[in-house]
Amino acid sequence: MTFTPRAAWADTPEPVRAAVAGALGAAIDGHTDLHGGMSPGPAVGLRLADGRQVFVKAVSAEVRVHNHAMIRQEAGILDILPPTVPAPRRLATVEHGPWIALATTWAPGATADRWTDASIAAVAQACRAANAHRAPGVLPPVAERIFDFNGWTRLIALGTGDEWETTHAGAAAEVVAGWERWTAGDALVHRDIRLDNTAVGARAVLLDWAYAAAGAPWIDLAQLAADVVATGHVLGPQAATDRAHRLLRTLPPEASRFVVGLAGMWSIRAATIPDTVMPDISVWRRARSAALRPLVAHLIDDHRG
Ligand SMILES: Nc1ncnc2c1ncn2[C@@H]1O[C@H](COP(=O)(O)OP(=O)(O)OP(=O)(O)O)[C@@H](O)[C@H]1O
Ligand SMILES: [Mg+2]
Repeated sequence: MTFTPRAAWADTPEPVRAAVAGALGAAIDGHTDLHGGMSPGPAVGLRLADGRQVFVKAVSAEVRVHNHAMIRQEAGILDILPPTVPAPRRLATVEHGPWIALATTWAPGATADRWTDASIAAVAQACRAANAHRAPGVLPPVAERIFDFNGWTRLIALGTGDEWETTHAGAAAEVVAGWERWTAGDALVHRDIRLDNTAVGARAVLLDWAYAAAGAPWIDLAQLAADVVATGHVLGPQAATDRAHRLLRTLPPEASRFVVGLAGMWSIRAATIPDTVMPDISVWRRARSAALRPLVAHLIDDHRG
């Protein structure tokens, strides 16, 4: 689906662009606007006069204060990731008035619209490489970076939206219960694995590290499984659900419980959080939760044994 378009780099105030060039130590010779993700600020590939290609994302706190905070948070996280984590490296952070801009190394590869078996394999490998690290001590427990995970319980209280929810919400809420405990761990977790947060070339690089945390080592792979279904596979919904099952079969049962929790999170957020800056997000959340229904129904049955 298409979102409210991101702002264009050319519309970023000139002093901000000049400050980015200054911090990078080279003039900007050309740029390509990027369209992935769901933030209102610009994301861009810059060609520098010294031949480098770099990535920059920026936002004004006046546009959306949350994204401003997330860029600052990500800048700090990139600096503490071990060098063996498949992530971009921070090159510069610029703050100018209400604006913040983060420049990182360019991650070669594509951010596609749909998963393929090759991109699933590459991203799964990148997740395993990242998750094999112990989380740096300053990262918070993952429970602090998971929001609205009691979505099924809240939906029951609020009134479920349709028959499917009425039938499944109770069992789903039971599956997710106690998530703060069973998601805990000391592995480095990216916590926001989605196709548009990856660059897949010969190998995959994980992008957008603002939510990194310490948690159970299977969380990113569970989120990958959910995203294959929610974002979609080039071979269609059945293939997506099948690939998610295949991934989840390699993981502990908690990974399946996590997928059920994500579906409830998207449902409750779609039902309760209006977004005036990017109203499409509610539609997107609802669509993700709906796409996950066949998988979630299956996982609930599995959980009951
Ligand atoms: N280092 C990079 N190299 C190349 N392309 C990148 C890089 N980082 C991000 N991108 C591209 O830019 C898009 C937006 O970047 P990113 O996901 O980091 O920020 P965001 O969209 O602002 O965050 P969110 O997804 O939380 O809204 C990505 O979907 C990806 O296509
Ligand atoms: Mg993103």
